[in-house]
Amino acid sequence: LGSRSLTGRCVMVTAGPTREPVDPVRYLGNRSSGKTGFAIAAAARRAGARVILVAGPVNLATPPGVERVDVQTAEEMRYAVHAWVGACDLFVGTAAVADYRPAEPAAGKVKRDGEGRTLSLVPNPDILAEVAARPKPPLTMGFAAETGDVEANARAKLASKGIDLVVANEVGEGKGFDTDDNTVTVLWEGGRRRLGPAPKTELARELVALAAARLDGTLQGG
Ligand code: C5P
Repeated sequence: LGSRSLTGRCVMVTAGPTREPVDPVRYLGNRSSGKTGFAIAAAARRAGARVILVAGPVNLATPPGVERVDVQTAEEMRYAVHAWVGACDLFVGTAAVADYRPAEPAAGKVKRDGEGRTLSLVPNPDILAEVAARPKPPLTMGFAAETGDVEANARAKLASKGIDLVVANEVGEGKGFDTDDNTVTVLWEGGRRRLGPAPKTELARELVALAAARLDGTLQGG
């Protein structure tokens, strides 16, 4: 593969967590660092693509040459994604989008009153599945963080979300989240490839190369 394998292509990457407001000072969130998505955005840019990075709240510098859109909630991420993804050839969903959000965030700070409380939640949109369901979808790559039956669960995600490539990784104690090294298996209809263990930056480069090969129609089954 040439080092500029994505020249002339547009790549969109979602990264990081989302924050779903409970009230003006509190939110539901998760531990996603955003490292994987930022590394993929950087690798895609180095491969010559125009890169749009839709990022939740993370403490990471924007990779050189990457266009960044900052969002907080899943709804904001969805809006930003649909606003720009029509121009893109590849969509990589790495964001840890909150599955649920508070049904009605309180307008003012919730006060302690010594009583128990129940928080009512509603499901968030599946942004990756929505992109895959667009009339002219880009090539779609999703991630599947699983704690068991990793490959089977990840492969099921290909069909349930209607995506082209799924990157399966096992998460748990010291694995996957908030770490620098990772081992993943990329699965697609009729193929698979194991990558790593390697630093996330190296894996990102290999994932981008794999997606570029798929875009060019040169990806072999493996
Ligand atoms: O279904 P699950 O959350 O395990 O799927 C993970 C994949 O789907 C990731 O690629 C993630 O970025 C994407 N996703 C999404 N919107 C959601 C939930 C997950 O884009 N609401």
